Amino acid sequence: MADLSTVFTGIRFENPFLLASAPPTESESNITRAFDAGWGGVVTKTIGLHPVVNVRGPKTKFLRVDNAGPRISMSKRPDSTLLASWNWELISDKPLDWWIPRLERIRKAYPDKVLVASIMAGSGDDRELDNWQTLVRGVQDAGVQAIELNLSCPHMDRVDMGANVGKDPVLCSISTRVVKEVARVPVWVKLTPASADIVEEAEAVFRMGGDAISSSNTFPALPPLDPATLDFEINVDGYVSSGGLGGPAIFPQSLAKMAQLTQAFPDREFSGIGGISSFDQALSYFLLGCGTVQVATAAMLDHAIGPNVIRELIDGMTAFLGRNAHRGWTSLEDFRGLRHGNVVAQSGIGRPDSAGYHGGREDEGEGYAVAVEAR
Ligand SMILES: Cc1cc2nc3c(=O)[nH]c(=O)nc-3n(C[C@H](O)[C@H](O)[C@H](O)COP(=O)(O)O)c2cc1C
Repeated sequence: MADLSTVFTGIRFENPFLLASAPPTESESNITRAFDAGWGGVVTKTIGLHPVVNVRGPKTKFLRVDNAGPRISMSKRPDSTLLASWNWELISDKPLDWWIPRLERIRKAYPDKVLVASIMAGSGDDRELDNWQTLVRGVQDAGVQAIELNLSCPHMDRVDMGANVGKDPVLCSISTRVVKEVARVPVWVKLTPASADIVEEAEAVFRMGGDAISSSNTFPALPPLDPATLDFEINVDGYVSSGGLGGPAIFPQSLAKMAQLTQAFPDREFSGIGGISSFDQALSYFLLGCGTVQVATAAMLDHAIGPNVIRELIDGMTAFLGRNAHRGWTSLEDFRGLRHGNVVAQSGIGRPDSAGYHGGREDEGEGYAVAVEAR
């Protein structure tokens, strides 16, 4: 019998699959349904201390590409395939006082599941640094087993919040330090992919005692413009602001960020996020060295909390371990990080023998013009 359990930042998970901080984890009923469906853990929708009012109209839409053509649009239509989610949703619009009794109840009802609280405050002044500590005390007293710092929300106007913190190693360092001063549970830090070198922010986090990095949050993005109306496909009174792209489109980009992280810090712990909807994608993150993975978009599209997604993840990992039993693999630890050393500099990639070299271009290769002989 395959053992899917794992230990991540000292916490035992019955399986390494978590719901990421997003609408699937915005309420008590969603979280309890998620646990009943089989998720090993959940990260709550991010909790903050400032009042939150979302935009008028939809907060999230899904971008689809026509199966038989090049059209990319958010309009709902048949014969199209999911490319990405796009959202400009803010953090939880429920205050800390709303969350605390619910976190307590969930913990009591599901002692074997892992409940992680995502929290966010600012880093620009002492009041905001106190806010981090108020949030930590509140959620850890309610019983959560870990805390995830949201240093990655891509649509913050404040320069000292969300992704604006995650882009700045100094602000990452300050936020992590004030949280670690009062945290009695492991602290995961969710970094933004929208920075020049994510390794610099990760270094600052680990130096201040952060226990793990989660990556990626959504990538900064805009909705397409509608060729008929000339308006953005999501807008309020014609206006839009930068939002976040998630789902299949970000899978390769998130992998690239994760490869940078696991190579720079091979002995540290990482939670992989971005474009996961089946075990095949989760496996890519595990092979790069991640100890858990998180899912948002795919779960949103599957009965709000992903009952079919988690079933496929569990079945997929069970089958994978079965297929590799002859190698002696019985758990995630046996294959975690197996390919983390295989991302190298361009100069480290093998070159063909000169006889078979055509300037890097195959004559009939898709997307290349046929070479014209010079006269
Ligand atoms: C509608 C929506 C809301 C989100 N809200 C949060 C949030 O409050 N806090 C957070 O850390 N990440 C948030 N995220 C980011 C997700 O947790 C996740 O990092 C991202 O969507 C990439 O994963 P995916 O490709 O599985 O969607 C949100 C994502 C979506 C789509």
